[in-house]
Amino acid sequence: MTQAPPPKKSVALSGVVAGNTAISTVGSGDDLRYRGYDVRDLAEHATFEEVAYLVLYGALPTKAQLTAYTERLASLRGLPAPVLRVLEQLPATAHPMDVMHAGVAALATLEQEKSPYTPEGARAIADRLIACTGSMLLYWYHFTRDGSRIDTVTDDPSVGEHFLHLLHGKKPSAEWAAAMHASLILYAEHEFNASTFTARIIAGTGSDMHSAIGGAIGALKGPKHGGANEVAFEVQSRYESADQAERDIRERVSKGEIVIGFGHPVYRTVDPRNVLIKQVGRRLGEAQHDMKLWTIADRLETVMMETKKMFPNLDWFSAVSYSLMGVPTNMFTPLFVIARITGWAAHVIEQRQQGTIIRPGANYIGPDALAFVPIASRG
Ligand SMILES: CC(C)(COP(=O)(O)OP(=O)(O)OC[C@H]1O[C@@H](n2cnc3c(N)ncnc32)[C@H](O)[C@@H]1OP(=O)(O)O)[C@@H](O)C(=O)NCCC(=O)NCCS
Repeated sequence: MTQAPPPKKSVALSGVVAGNTAISTVGSGDDLRYRGYDVRDLAEHATFEEVAYLVLYGALPTKAQLTAYTERLASLRGLPAPVLRVLEQLPATAHPMDVMHAGVAALATLEQEKSPYTPEGARAIADRLIACTGSMLLYWYHFTRDGSRIDTVTDDPSVGEHFLHLLHGKKPSAEWAAAMHASLILYAEHEFNASTFTARIIAGTGSDMHSAIGGAIGALKGPKHGGANEVAFEVQSRYESADQAERDIRERVSKGEIVIGFGHPVYRTVDPRNVLIKQVGRRLGEAQHDMKLWTIADRLETVMMETKKMFPNLDWFSAVSYSLMGVPTNMFTPLFVIARITGWAAHVIEQRQQGTIIRPGANYIGPDALAFVPIASRG
């Protein structure tokens, strides 16, 4: 019998099984499957919309179902006037993750999930949020920069193209569209990670879909989770060359510094998503004759393996890819949100079907029983 690997040092509940799921598995710890399908096959051959359908509806769509689903998502990009007014009040200095959080909460007040909750109703809200959270972010972005009120309804065929079109004001190339499909697929779902578990905890209390997604956005923001792609870019862009990067990172690692973008709470030898996102970054860099960031990231991958046996996680080359497509750094994690709403919503539906509230116990480490002293007798 093979022994379970030891728990990870910096991860609470590492290796603890906290529930059942049929949505995805990290398998032996170094591979990832959505509803049974290897994520590498999906990212190479499917569209994001196809994978969103798979994760949310439980099976790959037929051609007709995929056409209908893609059109349905495209029809849900517009925002109600009160949400636009809320977005216009938010400052240009706000973090885009907070803008998305606020946008989702504002939409909840207008398009509240109807109780009693049903899987169909929950999926309808998930579809709406996958389709329109990019609209929220980019409406706010343009309005707070130059006062323009962009039309968020476009005829772009996919979620990724819609995002890049609104960001840059023009339709993206086929190459960029393909890169977005792969990246959003890789980010779509990941078992009981911190933000998904947050969503499940909120769903377990009987709360609604918008609340679960809002809570998950908050959990994803942290640099030890989704926010890692933004910090990874900050690390990579510190350097002018791969040699300079290597020297500096060797020194930092020797002093015990954690390099964000490496290691993973679950994986132990490799992040199976890395090989694909690395290819995406390489293709984008080659097409633009701009390999600087990719080369630095690649060298640091070698250095981290050599010095700490640490491998890059999905965020490392996502940062390279997004920056090559002109995405502002603080929108990297919001792109992760758009993709991951898929997984979060599927877990909310599953948690509701299981019908339990999540409430673990705690090991008490506080003082022994103390006698209460009334305020009048205290100093
Ligand atoms: C995910 C994470 C918390 C796991 O950490 P962990 O539990 O310490 O992982 P391990 O048990 O495998 O660590 C083994 C060793 O590698 C070190 N290590 C882990 N991640 C490291 C990193 N990113 N950079 C440098 N060293 C790292 C640990 O400090 C430990 O060193 P030690 O044995 O000298 O004390 C950690 O890798 C991390 O914080 N990574 C950066 C955050 C990030 O990118 N998050 C996004 C995840 S998708």
